[in-house]
Amino acid sequence: MHLFENLKNAFSEEPYNAQQAQEMAHLYSWGPVIFQVCRLMIKYGILEMLHDHKEGLTQADIVAATDLSEYAVKCLMEASLTTHIVLIDPETDRYRLAKTGWFLLRDQMVRADIDFNHDVNYEGWFVLDKALEEGRPEGLKHFGNWPTIYEGLSSLPADVQKSWFGFDHYYSDHSFDEALAFISASKPRHLLDVGGNTGRFAMRCVAYNPMIEVTICDLPQQIEMMRQATAGQPGAERIHGVGMDILNEQNTFPVDRKYDVIWMSQFLDCFSEQQIVSILRRAAAIMDADSRVYIMETLWDRQDYVPAAMSLTMTSLYFTALANGNSKMYNTDDMARLIREAGLEIEQVHDRIGNGGHSILVCKK
Ligand SMILES: C[S@@+](CC[C@H](N)C(=O)[O-])C[C@H]1O[C@@H](n2cnc3c(N)ncnc32)[C@H](O)[C@@H]1O
Repeated sequence: MHLFENLKNAFSEEPYNAQQAQEMAHLYSWGPVIFQVCRLMIKYGILEMLHDHKEGLTQADIVAATDLSEYAVKCLMEASLTTHIVLIDPETDRYRLAKTGWFLLRDQMVRADIDFNHDVNYEGWFVLDKALEEGRPEGLKHFGNWPTIYEGLSSLPADVQKSWFGFDHYYSDHSFDEALAFISASKPRHLLDVGGNTGRFAMRCVAYNPMIEVTICDLPQQIEMMRQATAGQPGAERIHGVGMDILNEQNTFPVDRKYDVIWMSQFLDCFSEQQIVSILRRAAAIMDADSRVYIMETLWDRQDYVPAAMSLTMTSLYFTALANGNSKMYNTDDMARLIREAGLEIEQVHDRIGNGGHSILVCKK
């Protein structure tokens, strides 16, 4: 049964019996170290080795292959056993991969989330309480002294940047082609990509449509990264950049041409409710009756499965502690209310875009 159509049932009924509920509570209480065990079983290649050796491996085999001490391997394997990541054959003491271990290894979303949570979020979430109480990204301070993570993106340490972009790209890249099919139906000539980041959507857009011109609005640092990323690529001459801080209300959207489509992908979740209304009002100010705003978001209540909704509500806490202290992954009612407040109307909704989780809200003035 899909969560999306049955959201109220999914969260209004107790899903566990008492024993399962107690098990979940214990699992949550050891969450941080279970997370690290999962990550290290991938990092040291142990899950991959077990995947390749269906007959199973002994502890000695794993020690020999990893260069880890017997003590280190024993700790990791025993922790993985009791969390059902690996199985053991009681006759031979050989370890095999369990189903959960397989998903840790092969589910690309799980892999993007693990890297993002370790490299970007892990330390910052230690001060989640302070961030929630103060409405500031308190967990960002160990990376740098920026008001939000976006000013610091281009200067984050390389591994942190890689995981941030890996997460960002995983969630939006898969949806771009399907989104382009919707957008292109109205044959737009000029598209404004607000929060266009390093230009990945813009590149797909100019490749898809040989007539279209794309203008990206983003922070000046990101426009610089976009120029480097798109330089020399086919169609790059049809991609333009405008560096601006959207949080400065004096900054209006460009009026150098009439934009048929204003595209905002995974953008509005970076802002508070009040900021979203201000951004959408400024978008409305450059629209006429024919222009449309396409808002692509992962709205947590439009997911088909509980783990997807859970991942999104947890991502909200990345925004709290790391990103800006005041934004989140929104639900449909909240986003629709903000769109109305900005003087726009939702004309169409397309769900299950790309690998499933995105929705596109098409809005007119
Ligand atoms: C989560 S990323 C989404 C990127 C891209 N649209 C996608 O779908 O993958 C949010 C983008 O918003 C930009 N952004 C955040 N705060 C901004 C601000 N104050 N002014 C302009 N752009 C901002 C970030 O630099 C980043 O490129």
